[in-house]
Formats: sequence, C-alpha cells, structure tokens
Amino acid sequence: MQSFKTVSDIRIEAGGTAKLDAHVAGLSRNKKIAIITDKGVRSLGLMDAGVAALRDAGYEVMIFDDVVADPPEDVVIAGAETVKQFGAGLVIGFGGGSPMDTAKVIAFLADNDVTLPQIYGVDVAQGSRLPLVLIPTTSGTGSEVTNVAIITTGEGSKNAVVSDPLYADRVLLDASLTLGLPAHITAATGIDAMVHAIEAYTSVHRKNPISDAMGLSALRKLTRAIGRAVNTPDDVDARNDMLIGAMLAGQAFSNAPVGAVHGLAYPLGGFFHVPHGLSNSLVMVEVMKFNAQEDRAKRWYGEIASDLGVGQTPAALIDEILRLQDETKVQRRLRDVNITSNDIPMMADDAILKDRVLRNNPREMTHADIVKIYETIA
Ligand SMILES: NC(=O)c1ccc[n+]([C@@H]2O[C@H](COP(=O)([O-])OP(=O)(O)OC[C@H]3O[C@@H](n4cnc5c(N)ncnc54)[C@H](O)[C@@H]3O)[C@@H](O)[C@H]2O)c1
Ligand SMILES: [Fe+2]
Repeated sequence: MQSFKTVSDIRIEAGGTAKLDAHVAGLSRNKKIAIITDKGVRSLGLMDAGVAALRDAGYEVMIFDDVVADPPEDVVIAGAETVKQFGAGLVIGFGGGSPMDTAKVIAFLADNDVTLPQIYGVDVAQGSRLPLVLIPTTSGTGSEVTNVAIITTGEGSKNAVVSDPLYADRVLLDASLTLGLPAHITAATGIDAMVHAIEAYTSVHRKNPISDAMGLSALRKLTRAIGRAVNTPDDVDARNDMLIGAMLAGQAFSNAPVGAVHGLAYPLGGFFHVPHGLSNSLVMVEVMKFNAQEDRAKRWYGEIASDLGVGQTPAALIDEILRLQDETKVQRRLRDVNITSNDIPMMADDAILKDRVLRNNPREMTHADIVKIYETIA
C-alpha cells in the first residue's frame, strides 16, 4: 500500500500577511490568538501588519517570541504553558523551521494533559490540538507542511515528535516575508530544500508516485530560482518559487523520509551549531557519490538529472549541484566551519546512531564509510 498525506489548505499570496484576519477566518475557537516566533523575525517587523489586521478584526493577540534556532525543550514547554494560560483559540507559527516546529508542539501540548517527553517518537502524539496556522519566513525546512517537529533535548542531542496531529490546518506562503532573507541563509536553506526533494525521491521506505512528483517539481523550481534569489534578493518571483519549491519538497519528504545526507549533517549541527541547511550542503555531494554506486540510487539520480534537463546520469546531477553551490557561494569544506579532522571520529560515532534516517538511504552505510565521507570533505 502506498499513501500520501499533506496539509489540506495551502494559500499562496505575496503580501498576504497584511490580510491575516482573512487568512485565519473560520479557524479560531475564540477571539484569542497566540503567535509563536523568534526575536529576530519579530524585530524585522515582518508580522506587524498581520498583527494589526488581527487586532482590527477584534482578536486579542499574544506574541511568544522566545523561540531560538534549534528550539530547546524548556522553551517549548514554557511556550505551551503561556499559551494555555492565555486561553488561545488558535496558534500561529510565524518564522523559520524553529518557530513553526515550536508552534506545532505548543498547539498539541496546550490542548492535552501530556508532557513533552511523553510525545517523542513516531505516531505517539495522538489526540486533538489547538487550531494551527503556519507561515514560513525562510524557504527551506518545509516544516509548514510536515508532521514533524525537531526539538533540542540536550547539548548535541535532538528528538522528534512525528505524528499526524502536527499537520497544520492552514498554511500561508507569503513570498514578501522572505525578501530580506540574507544571501547566505537563502543559499543554505534553499539547498536544504533541494536535499529534501532528492532524498525523498531516493527514499527506500514509502517513496511513492505522489512524493516523486512533488520532489521533481520542487527541484525544477528550486534549481532555477536559487541563484536569482541569492544574487538578486528582491526578485519576488524567484522568492515565490523558492517558497513553493521548499513547500513541495516538504510534502515529498514528510511522506518519503530523508536519508544519509541528513544523517551525516546532524552531528555538524548538534556539536558545532552549523546551520541545518549548510550542514546538509557540506555533506550532500559525497553522500550522493557514495549512494550512486547502488543500482536503484543510480537510476533515481539519473531520473532526476533527466527531469532537470541536465543529463541522464548521477554525475550530471552532481555537476548541477556543484554548479549551484558555486553560484550561491556556499561553504564547501568542514574546515570552513571550524571542524577539524580530529572531530571526525566523534561525528561518525553520532551519525551511525541516526538509524531513523539512515534506514531510508538507498545504500547501507558503515561507520568506516561515514568516516571516509567526512575525511573527503575535511
Ligand atoms: N519540521 C520539519 O519538518 C523540519 C525539517 C527540517 C528542519 N527542521 C528544523 O527547522 C529548524 C531550522 O529552521 P530554519 O532553517 O528555517 O531557520 P530558523 O527558524 O532556525 O531561523 C534561523 C534564523 O533566521 C532568521 N530569519 C527567519 N526568517 C527570516 C527572514 N525572513 N529574514 C531574515 N532573517 C530571518 C531567524 O530570526 C533566525 O535567526 C531547525 O530546528 C531544524 O531542526 C524542521
Ligand atoms: Fe533538512
């Protein structure tokens, strides 16, 4: 049996945040709305027009802006408590993956008598949640259309809540929010989205015709727009394509989960706080070269290359990725992010434990394989 799930209500409107009252219409249980964000996003003023529109429409609005990148448990727990006390009838996650993931879990915890540690894992969180709207301000994680929330549980360790109640009720894709995204964040988060699409297409579990279609159309949009989005930041069409491409890639990998690129990227974030997209970008080419030795991966990479019109082989797809990494000037080596060869054994020890993602990879990876890949990019 194959299956595909996603958010059922996705709206695309550049500038739509200014009409936030219309975009939340019919969802809230009462006239109280909690917005979950971070201080960076809030200080950019991106949500101001939306908050004003909600207040003009008679809503009481509470803003919880304590989210930080790679959200830690205590922030999520505090946010859930604050939202519960406020008596919110609707939760809006506004920002990158960190505020959106936090909002998903808050919406669940605020409506249930369970603790956060009780809901880690796949399909563990069951039951109702507060109505939930997600509005991304980065084009990368696809978190707005996934049923996943990644929470930092300790120094260097993360845990995930993966369950259908985390699918939002509604998503608003407003490209105007991403116009000010700095070039290096645009590049790294955009490459993260490309990795989602590629790894979904080569996922040996739950790959299906719908996730394939989403992954390929995501890559078409992302590969054509990323250079323009990085190098001409106010190109709203390029920004719109990046936002839609990241969302399509999110739909793909929420159904056909990611593999070893993410597995090898996690320790870079966990131990060295390398941003998630950049971590993926650093390891992706060598992981793909490794995977391409396996027959299915070889065929799948060839299909992607052919769909993009760049050739028919894994090498053609890898060349296209290298070209895009050049065009977006993203860092290429571990030493560029202050990771040394001495750190490799520890990273490999951690990566080999990421069975949740390694099991989806088309070619099995040993500890020695992982060390070799890290050494190649040292
Ligand atoms: N739920 C999922 O399916 C999923 C998938 C992949 C990653 N993640 C998680 O998402 C998080 C990463 O998310 P992210 O990469 O979107 O970054 P982020 O949300 O951590 O934000 C990174 C920085 O970018 C800033 N920022 C956000 N929007 C901006 C804008 N428009 N202009 C200028 N600055 C802006 C933020 O203030 C912040 O400082 C990690 O916690 C990761 O584990 C979740
Ligand atoms: Fe990712």
